[in-house]
Amino acid sequence: MDEQTKHLLDWSQWGRQWIEHLRKSKPLGRELERHLHKFEETFTQIGRKASLLDANNHQEELPALLSKAEEVQKQFHHFLRLAQLHEEELPEETTTASEALPVQSAPIIQQPEAIAEPVTDAVITVPTPVTYPSAREPVRVARPVAVGRHTLPPLPYAYNALEPYIDEATMHIHHDKLHQKYVDDLNTAERKLADARNSGNFDLIRHWTRELAFNGAGHYLHTIFWPSMSPNGGGEPSGELAEAITRYFGSFAAFQNQFSQAAEKVEGPGWAILVWSPRAQHLEILTAEKHQNLSQWDIIPLLVLDVWEHAYFLLYQNQRDKYVEGWWNIVNWPYVQERFAQARKLRWEPH
Ligand SMILES: [Fe+2]
Repeated sequence: MDEQTKHLLDWSQWGRQWIEHLRKSKPLGRELERHLHKFEETFTQIGRKASLLDANNHQEELPALLSKAEEVQKQFHHFLRLAQLHEEELPEETTTASEALPVQSAPIIQQPEAIAEPVTDAVITVPTPVTYPSAREPVRVARPVAVGRHTLPPLPYAYNALEPYIDEATMHIHHDKLHQKYVDDLNTAERKLADARNSGNFDLIRHWTRELAFNGAGHYLHTIFWPSMSPNGGGEPSGELAEAITRYFGSFAAFQNQFSQAAEKVEGPGWAILVWSPRAQHLEILTAEKHQNLSQWDIIPLLVLDVWEHAYFLLYQNQRDKYVEGWWNIVNWPYVQERFAQARKLRWEPH
């Protein structure tokens, strides 16, 4: 297949993924849905037309189609910026748990002239490469993920957008196959554990809890990973993050060196991870073997129980179950509740 055709097909998919993502993220007003529907049609048409031109050997018409795609993209990018701007302006109380973003009051389309209609038959003759907007993960979206209903987040750019650093084939396999598998297996683990709670049969608790950790950590880390990259990326951070890096690591170069060293030295498959410690109030560089060992990332611990033998051996010897049973009598729930209240203030896009 012609390189430009592949480019257009990826672009078409990218647009449709974005639309699907927006529809899943929040309820859409009639006006917003009308625009999205037109964009969806246009993305689909251009993808279909690119396939047809390729199949019929009419590649000479591809530059015009590319140009049209670029025009659509400008409009879509503008549209996304308006939609996201609107989301940022929403007061905190409109995004509390279980509340949907207001549909009727959404003023996203109050200035119709700001959102042009998607082009239909415009043909511009100068071929220009299609570029992709840099991704910004939407935040403060409060929609709980039901048991076994995690979803694969769409890539915020085209599959070939990170070339030459990460190739298109790798991105297809990594995102569509491997990340999807983590999502599927996480959903299975959650459902199996729900079944166990219902039936009271916890014979396979160790297995499903391991599955929960491996696949949950894999899903959450990849969900952070995709928007952490951009075809327009590189350089150095600025603002508070830059200051925090310099304060703790000495310089950006020192941070980069330690992060690279840590990443290179992970034993087997794993991750290098820059983290913020709310307790120490500083950054740190950590690594994970596999994804979890045996926890998940992107979570905040609320209640912890030390089951190392040093915590109970003098009193209980090898009877850990007795120690655990007794421990429930000394849990400080107000403290746990306070941690929960603080943790709930963080909101990330549900997937
Ligand atoms: Fe991966």
